[in-house]
Amino acid sequence: GAAELGPYRHFMQKEIFEQPRAIADTLQGVEGISSELFGEEAASVLGKIDSLLILACGTSYYAGLTAKYWLESIAKIQVEVEIASEYRYRDSVPDENKLVVTISQSGETADTLAGLRHANELGMLNSLTICNVSTSAMVRECMLSYITRAGVEIGVASTKAFTTQLTALFLLSLTIAKIRGKLSEKQEAAHLKSLRHLPVAISAVLALEPQIIAWAEEFSKYDNALFLGRGIHYPIALEGALKLKEISYIHAEAYPAGELKHGPLALVTDKMPVVTIAPKDDLLEKLKSNMQEVRARGGQLYVFADSDTQMISEEGIHVIRMPENYGLLSPILHVIPLQLLAYHTALVRGTDVDKPRNLAKSVTVE
Ligand code: G6P
Repeated sequence: GAAELGPYRHFMQKEIFEQPRAIADTLQGVEGISSELFGEEAASVLGKIDSLLILACGTSYYAGLTAKYWLESIAKIQVEVEIASEYRYRDSVPDENKLVVTISQSGETADTLAGLRHANELGMLNSLTICNVSTSAMVRECMLSYITRAGVEIGVASTKAFTTQLTALFLLSLTIAKIRGKLSEKQEAAHLKSLRHLPVAISAVLALEPQIIAWAEEFSKYDNALFLGRGIHYPIALEGALKLKEISYIHAEAYPAGELKHGPLALVTDKMPVVTIAPKDDLLEKLKSNMQEVRARGGQLYVFADSDTQMISEEGIHVIRMPENYGLLSPILHVIPLQLLAYHTALVRGTDVDKPRNLAKSVTVE
């Protein structure tokens, strides 16, 4: 009811602003990196696996795609990420040394549960879930678990569940890295420090809301949008496009920026806004040349850059700078303005933000 909303207009907005607290709660009790974070049996299970299969749906699937970058770069372990409804119905090659990881806010999504059971039937019994509901079927059926502490999420479009999933997945990456001897004490301390600073860093990003409201006014006039990212920010582009289509009903697609020339460039006109996630990383120069290709066709760029980039707003290029460059954890910060952009665009368009048409909070039937 209205009382629970406090100063917010919708649960989605409230949940976006709860993210500093949700992440702090998810990290509560984490004193150092150890397998116990994932359950008693974690030391033996995580010690014997040699690859991961991540299964999930919707926003949780994009958390999995993001985690692949962390797991492969920090823990040097091979990761496959698959949409649960695809995995359960195809012939795949089972491998009993694989850890099956499910990611789910509700812990009740029918396809994700069926994917887990399918993997079990194929003899893959090592399983771990990142889940927001400790009493859910997913937690009961997985050997290991990490419970995110996002709190109840009411908005159909997932926000705080996603960033807490990412937090837990980063912890998983560090844990597996440590077990495999890929994490020095110094690195562990540095990663923990940046994890613990996340709530403060996110609060600074949330303070960008007025600038995003200004963008949303323009944005709400478009019928289509393209989201570009590279590397670990490609899954964040996917999540930004999903948020926008779910609640504003603007058709949105995400592309890894390097693929622009293999198709989507044909769609770029002055009627196509292109949201670009442009953190200052090794791929920034390549991304800038992708942006020029968009500008040359009249496309309107909406760029989320880092504090330490030179990029400035000019004709057809709108830039919002993130308060700080957050390195490996940057995806957790960069998704926040995309959530706000979707929210405020939907608000201008007058859609039912918390209950978008045809969608359900948790899909417990196929
Ligand atoms: C539905 C929700 C999404 C969610 C997805 C997976 O589509 O609308 O927000 O990401 O289900 O749900 P889960 O509970 O498994 O994370």
